[in-house]
Amino acid sequence: MTEIYKGLAGVVVDETAISKVNPETNSLLYRGFPVQELAATQPFEAVAYLLWHGELPNPEQLAQLRAEEREHRALAANVKQAIDLLPLSAHPMDEARTAVSVIGASDVQGAGSVFDAAGSPEENLRRSIRLYAALPAIVAYGQRRRRGQEIVPPRDDLDYAANFLWMTFGEESDEIVIDAFNRSMILYAEHSFNASTFTARVIASTLSDLYSSVVGAIGALKGPLHGGANEAVLHIFNDIGSAENVVPWLDKALAEKRKIMGFGHRVYKRGDSRVPTMKSALDTLIEHYQRPDVAELYAKLEEEFVSRKGIYPNLDYPSGPAYNLIGFDTLTFTPLFIASRVTGWTAHVMEQSASNALIRPLSLYNGVDERHIEGYQADAEQLRANDRAAESAE
Ligand code: COA
Repeated sequence: MTEIYKGLAGVVVDETAISKVNPETNSLLYRGFPVQELAATQPFEAVAYLLWHGELPNPEQLAQLRAEEREHRALAANVKQAIDLLPLSAHPMDEARTAVSVIGASDVQGAGSVFDAAGSPEENLRRSIRLYAALPAIVAYGQRRRRGQEIVPPRDDLDYAANFLWMTFGEESDEIVIDAFNRSMILYAEHSFNASTFTARVIASTLSDLYSSVVGAIGALKGPLHGGANEAVLHIFNDIGSAENVVPWLDKALAEKRKIMGFGHRVYKRGDSRVPTMKSALDTLIEHYQRPDVAELYAKLEEEFVSRKGIYPNLDYPSGPAYNLIGFDTLTFTPLFIASRVTGWTAHVMEQSASNALIRPLSLYNGVDERHIEGYQADAEQLRANDRAAESAE
């Protein structure tokens, strides 16, 4: 009897040195470092470097990465043109996916055949930095365009997180806000073989190029069972309105057997290791923006849902309201996830390429038995008889 692992649940498909998710101890390590320590002490740029190189950068290496990031942080004219071709009603995930496709097609151009596309390790690192640098402008422009606002060019005097917020809002953000945003970027950066990362690795395993891997990964991330959940959490918050509505809202949602977005995880069954760090970032934002109502709704929904179902919040639960308080539109939340996770995806693409095996699982056929096109076999038999007659006549 063939055993089937639906959704690949519980299947270990390869090794990775990039991150370790441990649901038993509720911990997440990037290259050995607990993610909460990284979020408390590092800029996002240093974590990107860590994921790609395996070690935190020294000051010169960090300065070098920051210089390279600045080179590619402005929105390229052809990428802007491509975005402008899309209807304003297009989902920003589709916008970002298209933008990455344009960057890839422009960068990999001149490759003589598909065999030239995969790129050397050096080339793939360069492509990774380029995408990580380009995505904030894509996400920021997307939000501004939908609001009918002009594009805001990057500022060289600002580091990654501060510049991202600057390009989105056209004003300097408070240090508390920059810090909370930086933490969220670090928390979203990497999470082993999740659906989008696995998608990226599958594409890389065919020796396709890194940009194609990222395009595919964005498609996987868009789904509400994966990255789309942070957007969905805000819809739930808006739907509920305030803490006193939680109980009747939840009664109805559970009676309708709805999934409550922002809760549950395929790997963590006793709580998501990233939630406490993001929750404390959310708390600083609630304090900064003076929004105790958000804290009340957050706490009440968590309390009710956990006590009824025993299913805990995931990272999207605190990040959704945090992004909302910072001023991001709900539609922009999942693209923010792309801007962060592109570092993990590209680290995995490079790891897959360094020790590649084509990813191609098996399936158990459960369709109809063999059957034939009516008349086809009789005709084929007649043709074979004609051939035999012609041969013996020769
Ligand atoms: N709301 C309500 N019920 C949930 C739930 C949620 N958020 N998450 C899991 N459950 C229930 C399922 O309905 C199922 O119940 P059943 O056994 O009675 O059918 C059971 O818990 C197991 O859930 P399942 O979806 O099979 O587990 P999974 O490991 O495949 O799911 C997720 C993991 C993330 C897909 C799931 O928890 C979910 O859909 N969460 C909401 C989306 C989300 O926040 N995604 C972001 C993940 S970081």
